[in-house]
Amino acid sequence: MTSYEREVADARSGEIRSCIAGGYGGASVVVTGIGELCDGTGSSPAAGMAIVVEEGRIVWVGPERTLPEAAGSSRLDVAGRAVIPGFVDSHTHLVFAGDRAGEWEARMAGRAYVAGGIVGTVEATRAATTPELSRRAHRLVAEALEGGTTTIEVKSGYGLDVANEARLVRVAATLTDEVTYLGAHVVPPEYAGRSDDYVDLVCGQMLEACRGECRWIDVFCEEGAFDADQARTVLEAGRRAGLGLKLHANQLRHGPGASLGAAVGAASVDHCTHLSDADVEALAGSPTVVTLLPAAEFSTRSGYPDGRRLLDAGVRVALATDCNPGTSYTTSMSFVVALAVRELGMTLPEALHAATGGGADALRRDDVGRLQVGKRADFVVLDAPSASWIAYRPGVPMVSAVFRLGELVAGAPPGGRW
Ligand code: NIG
Ligand code: FE
Repeated sequence: MTSYEREVADARSGEIRSCIAGGYGGASVVVTGIGELCDGTGSSPAAGMAIVVEEGRIVWVGPERTLPEAAGSSRLDVAGRAVIPGFVDSHTHLVFAGDRAGEWEARMAGRAYVAGGIVGTVEATRAATTPELSRRAHRLVAEALEGGTTTIEVKSGYGLDVANEARLVRVAATLTDEVTYLGAHVVPPEYAGRSDDYVDLVCGQMLEACRGECRWIDVFCEEGAFDADQARTVLEAGRRAGLGLKLHANQLRHGPGASLGAAVGAASVDHCTHLSDADVEALAGSPTVVTLLPAAEFSTRSGYPDGRRLLDAGVRVALATDCNPGTSYTTSMSFVVALAVRELGMTLPEALHAATGGGADALRRDDVGRLQVGKRADFVVLDAPSASWIAYRPGVPMVSAVFRLGELVAGAPPGGRW
């Protein structure tokens, strides 16, 4: 059993150490027999390629017939299967307790999503012990890993007081290096009618208690959550604390969040279901990535964002799960890719790029998300001859084996030819 398999087994049995945080050494391996390689750059898949990995990093990618003779001794013949980068899920909220299945059922029966449901999860989360929160979150990360996600971002946002937000970011930091402080998710009930006071807390004592574990700060800029001035205040406080900036914006209706994100130089603005032409123009001229979360539209029975419009305008696009108990209780990036191809007007290479290299861009990471020389050897072998089968066979687990730093961490080395 590899160290990583042990991590996953520990997660499943409830004896948790960590999952996607940090590294675990790194293996050296030559991957051959690749039916189709999708490298995460957005270019068309290529046949007949091979990859050479040394100590967890990619040192060579090219046609197998030109493989350097001296290339390493350990071989992995994937026997005609497709290889893609590990998914980079750049937006999740997976530290929480309870569930909201009843709310979901009501929505499927026609009731609209309102952000007020978040408060139900806050209550359950505050009441849960830290080991319980940790066990649940690690199970979700193990599930994501088995689905091919090798880099994951995790937000707080269901604590909404100093002690609980600090607890959530501490749990998140055992899961991943990409932890986001989302104290500004919604105004908690005890601050009803005093949202500016809550913003003061978010930017003061709560930020102080959380910043040490975090790389990012996020704010839900939407009617019913925080307005543009409050969002800007939160983001500026985060920037002063050394955090990178992210926003939830334009999810439920048009609003100021998307253009604010571009104006403040956020790494990403997420959701962006409702964008004006001016928003699209502002985003296209900026380095800010738009992270589309179509599983949230699926689970809230809402209209989908227009991915095609964004790509045609030159906006940088990522896809992520938004895994949370209210609007998107899935860890499946394959499902998100299938939705993007079916509903957002994206081609399979575009969607795959958005779910890998695009996610890396949204996290400002240049070491993951693309299978190129110098990057981490985080890759997925599909049980399919072509990457398009992710969307062609929706709802079917197509992941055969998951590698991080060249080491098998989930699934099994493929046997038999395609
Ligand atoms: O990204 N939009 C705000 N936050 C989450 C929903 C959280 C919830 O409903 O619990 C989202 O969709
Ligand atoms: Fe979200």
